[in-house]
Amino acid sequence: MSKKQNSAKPSKKIGCNGDPKGATEIAQLLTKPLVSKAARLSVAPMMDWTDRHCRYLHRLLSRETLLYTEMVTAPALVRGGAVHLLEHSVAEHPVALQLGGSDPVELAEATRLGADAGYDEINLNVGCPSDRVQSGTFGAVLMKTPALVADCVRAMQEVTDVDITVKCRIGVDDQEPKEVLPDFINAMQGAGIKRVSIHARKAWLKGLSPKENRDIPPLDYALVYQMKREFPEMHLSINGGIASLAEADTHLAEGMDGVMIGRAAYHNPTDILSTADRRIFGTGTDTDPVQVVQQMLPYVEAHLIQGGKLNQITRHMLGLFAGKPGARAWRRYLSEHATKSGAGPDTVLTALQHVTQAAA
Ligand SMILES: Cc1cc2nc3c(=O)[nH]c(=O)nc-3n(C[C@H](O)[C@H](O)[C@H](O)COP(=O)(O)O)c2cc1C
Repeated sequence: MSKKQNSAKPSKKIGCNGDPKGATEIAQLLTKPLVSKAARLSVAPMMDWTDRHCRYLHRLLSRETLLYTEMVTAPALVRGGAVHLLEHSVAEHPVALQLGGSDPVELAEATRLGADAGYDEINLNVGCPSDRVQSGTFGAVLMKTPALVADCVRAMQEVTDVDITVKCRIGVDDQEPKEVLPDFINAMQGAGIKRVSIHARKAWLKGLSPKENRDIPPLDYALVYQMKREFPEMHLSINGGIASLAEADTHLAEGMDGVMIGRAAYHNPTDILSTADRRIFGTGTDTDPVQVVQQMLPYVEAHLIQGGKLNQITRHMLGLFAGKPGARAWRRYLSEHATKSGAGPDTVLTALQHVTQAAA
């Protein structure tokens, strides 16, 4: 189906009650042109971590940074009908949906669902090494078949005008990154892809756990810089082991278009995100984690009213004061009390007192 044919169809909106000018659509129109600009800094997709509550928190810390969902597999959406996985808040924009899959038809259908749900970008995962994912021929194993990835992203681009992007490794197993990475990026460019995030280490598909695959294979930033020189028209983001905004600045100064940060943004969200708008995007003012906690309270309340649990939100907030006075007491109080029955906004406010008292 062509983009033209697709746009002529009445769109099936998820999360905006079929209102053609609903909040999701308006937010999408307002943020769409800004996605590639937002990709100057992004928080990486992380399963079980960057869920909608985490993204809401990160958005309060930084207005500009691009946020990624956890990976959602195309079969879960298309065959399993799990469209609830696409639910998100309009406050999260600019936000990218990451898909896993390797069947062009299924990925195209999942892309259409993601675009209709209002995501600003749809990203294909070519970097995840987990066994479960390998068995479905998703993720990093696709580094071995760039022509198939090209077919997938072509099919994804056919159904939407939303940016289609790819997140990849520099190679897998015994591949030679200096050879396969340029070929891979070339194949993506040939398929019309304009933006790629590169996790600057190989994945070992046998013998290392997913966690080990994020630490043990050595980082090769120089190769990623070289890709930027070889493919100057491509928007390339570098990912892997970046622990501070000062390090992000170094990568940008080396000519990278974007920096993607995963674990450091999750564990130290204030350090990475509260000054990012000013330092990386040259706009806005710094955010204050105490105010961010207060801004989270109406969101917490709404979640509890819908039957949610406090801990589902506060588990992402534990690192807000990392390295600051009261951080340990904040973390301990929330960890111990947020799972108790009746836990709610007051629990968060009591935890916050530990921080404000320590700082006084
Ligand atoms: C808990 C966890 C879950 C992850 N899940 C995904 C995922 O769903 N999709 C993906 O492309 N990468 C995933 N990753 C990898 C990250 O996106 C990122 O590439 C990796 O952590 C390296 O960046 P960092 O050193 O800044 O953390 C995950 C990483 C972590 C720590």
